[in-house]
Amino acid sequence: MPDQHEFVVVANRLPVDRREEPDGSTSWRPSPGGLVAALEPVMKARDGAWVGWTGSPDDTLAPFDADGMHLVPVPLSADEVELYYEGMSNATLWPLYHDVIVAPAFHRTWWDAYVTVNRRFAQAVLPQAAEGATVWVQDYQLQLVPKMLRETRPDLRIGFFDHIPFPPYEIFAQLPWRRQVLEGLLGADLLGFQRPADANNLLRAARRLGMTTRGDAVLVDGRRARRGARLEAARPVVCKPFPISVDSTALEELARRPEVLERAKEIRAELGEPDTLVLGVDRLDYTKGIQHRLQAFGELLEDERLTVPGAVLVQVATPSRERVDEYQRIREDVEATVGRINGKHGQIGHPAVHYLHQTVDRAELAALYLAADVMLVTPLRDGMNLVAKEYVASRWDDAGTLVLSEFAGAANELTSAFVVNPHDIDGLKDAVMSAVRCPPVEARKRMRAMRRTVLRDDVAHWARTFLESLHDVRARQEAMTPPPDAADLDAALETLAQRPELLVALDFDGVLAPIVRDPEAARPLPAAAQALHDLAALPGVHLALVSGRTLDDLRRLAGPPPSAALIGSHGAQVADEHGADVGAATTLDDATRDLLARASAALHAISARYPGTFVEDKPAGTVFHTRQIERREDAEAAAKEAAQGPGSWGGVRTTLGKEVVDLSVVDVDKGVALGRLRVALGLRPGHGGVLYVGDDVTDEHAFAVLDDAAGDVTVKVGEGVTGARHRVADPERVADLLVRLLELVGKDRGTSAAR
Ligand code: ADP
Ligand code: G6P
Repeated sequence: MPDQHEFVVVANRLPVDRREEPDGSTSWRPSPGGLVAALEPVMKARDGAWVGWTGSPDDTLAPFDADGMHLVPVPLSADEVELYYEGMSNATLWPLYHDVIVAPAFHRTWWDAYVTVNRRFAQAVLPQAAEGATVWVQDYQLQLVPKMLRETRPDLRIGFFDHIPFPPYEIFAQLPWRRQVLEGLLGADLLGFQRPADANNLLRAARRLGMTTRGDAVLVDGRRARRGARLEAARPVVCKPFPISVDSTALEELARRPEVLERAKEIRAELGEPDTLVLGVDRLDYTKGIQHRLQAFGELLEDERLTVPGAVLVQVATPSRERVDEYQRIREDVEATVGRINGKHGQIGHPAVHYLHQTVDRAELAALYLAADVMLVTPLRDGMNLVAKEYVASRWDDAGTLVLSEFAGAANELTSAFVVNPHDIDGLKDAVMSAVRCPPVEARKRMRAMRRTVLRDDVAHWARTFLESLHDVRARQEAMTPPPDAADLDAALETLAQRPELLVALDFDGVLAPIVRDPEAARPLPAAAQALHDLAALPGVHLALVSGRTLDDLRRLAGPPPSAALIGSHGAQVADEHGADVGAATTLDDATRDLLARASAALHAISARYPGTFVEDKPAGTVFHTRQIERREDAEAAAKEAAQGPGSWGGVRTTLGKEVVDLSVVDVDKGVALGRLRVALGLRPGHGGVLYVGDDVTDEHAFAVLDDAAGDVTVKVGEGVTGARHRVADPERVADLLVRLLELVGKDRGTSAAR
């Protein structure tokens, strides 16, 4: 399907950042930071979609192609930028995960926005991802997305990579929403981290929060693990280090270009041909240790171990997160310190520190790397730090030295750098002097060793090893999902039949009735319909039909036995065994009704542009059908518009079913409704059992509230990854199953109902 993708990356940011210029025009620039720097070459080398935010509030752009990448913007309102991005992401999680260098703030409104926006990102992924696609979720801003994806799309292969450190439990535990974050992450199949220590911190947090780990995996399974049943049934979520890297070859090529070499010479000339050019390149962030670096350099001048104009420090600092208090504070602090050092040690035409609060382009950066004698990378904590690797990749001349903080992930690999503790200012000063005075032969030896590492383990290697591991993990899991096993299912039915009370609950389309092109033409297979009527007549047997359709449709098309309970509209409508409508749809308030009317109008507008689609209005939802559209591409495009339009609105719950985009304004699903029906019927687990048979992703919610280990029987019809324990091939096999159940229950009840 051309409009859906086998590979989808989802990150808070798109690779391009949309800016409002002072004259009111807009421009696009590369987005800041290491995540984009690393992922961009990976995406350019593959087909796929990149789902992310444009960097400006209230952008509602349609998906577009740029630089060979398919970009899918996710809108954020100005409030969400403040609460989700500046607040929860960058004033709570960022400082918490970076060793609480500054105090994290905890606000419930920020958390609420984080949940809402994570859900929007997850929903934006759904129409992009083909059946069984790989979805790679990035970084701390989107930690809930893996679980949200898995809930509706168990077919997806979900990876998560954490670009920043994962903190020790003692720090992580401060987070009031630590459990939700952990469970959000564990929706993935594979969790990747920068360092082994980060992966271990995650595993330890899982254990401390009561989960089971085995080797490098957390064992989770929505229901079985929670209820303490067999661990073999649990899903292993593997946690491993995959140190990220840079596109070393491209950086080296850039650094070999004649114009870049020329510019490197020019930079040195413009600086007055210093003996020692010391360089710092960072986002202006308090984690980067810029103040420590300035203090060390200032003291070296003070001590006259370095002197102006022989030595000069160039610090390039990209503006970052400028509306967050701590970022304003660090900027003031850095600028005041630069002013003090220059005031004291500068000379006319020769400042000691050249400070550029600017983003420079890739070629200028390469020229700076080449021009430098000593590169200072001194973060107090950093997931990896790509600047260190970029510097090494650019130094094809094997010259230059690197002073590197032991608290950067890169220090694990670049062990030939001058490794320092940036908090130890005397140690830092000594390391800078060692780097300045390093004999050329030793400097070359060190640089060559680092280059071997960076050229071998480049960003393509990072992406490849992560995605191969994800493939392997998933293969391990899929081997565990049930193949049809008639004997196993028969044994489960036999046990179920012996329960004094049981509920037989079935989805309609694709389960009782084969899928047909015209939804009005769907009818139960006669054998299944007959078995249902016979089952309904037996004592202690309750029956329920569960569907995305309305109750009226279900009554008309399925012809259920009069005593059957009905769950319609994906759980929003519930008719009990006496026919009374007791579902959430009966109690909508005015605001919700209004939202529903607007969502329906928006779907009708989309439908008008796609002949063959139609909209079905329901009591608590509105459904967009694409089944009758001729061309697959058009069906996909129409579904995508529906999901990304009204389907992404706050208060709207969107489910992508087979050929339908279902929007609901009440927060229920088949699982919620089934759970309530079970309680209403008095079928306590252990006393009464439930058989549930379903074929669609929406049935996964129902499987998730049942427990095979406690005597329920969950059956998936057809192919696809599922939470169900058993599997049958098609509606004919469902009819066989019902006939068999009738036989077993009839035998048990001593009746002759079995035919
Ligand atoms: P972070 O992701 O925390 O910003 P990294 O060091 O991993 O830290 O990545 C920073 C990225 O931003 C690198 O690709 C680097 O080249 C780029 N960068 C940093 N400062 C500047 C700057 N002033 N101008 C242009 N690019 C910059
Ligand atoms: C770090 C984070 C990224 C982030 C980048 C730039 O690299 O790990 O997720 O995109 O910084 O920060 P910004 O807030 O501007 O996206």
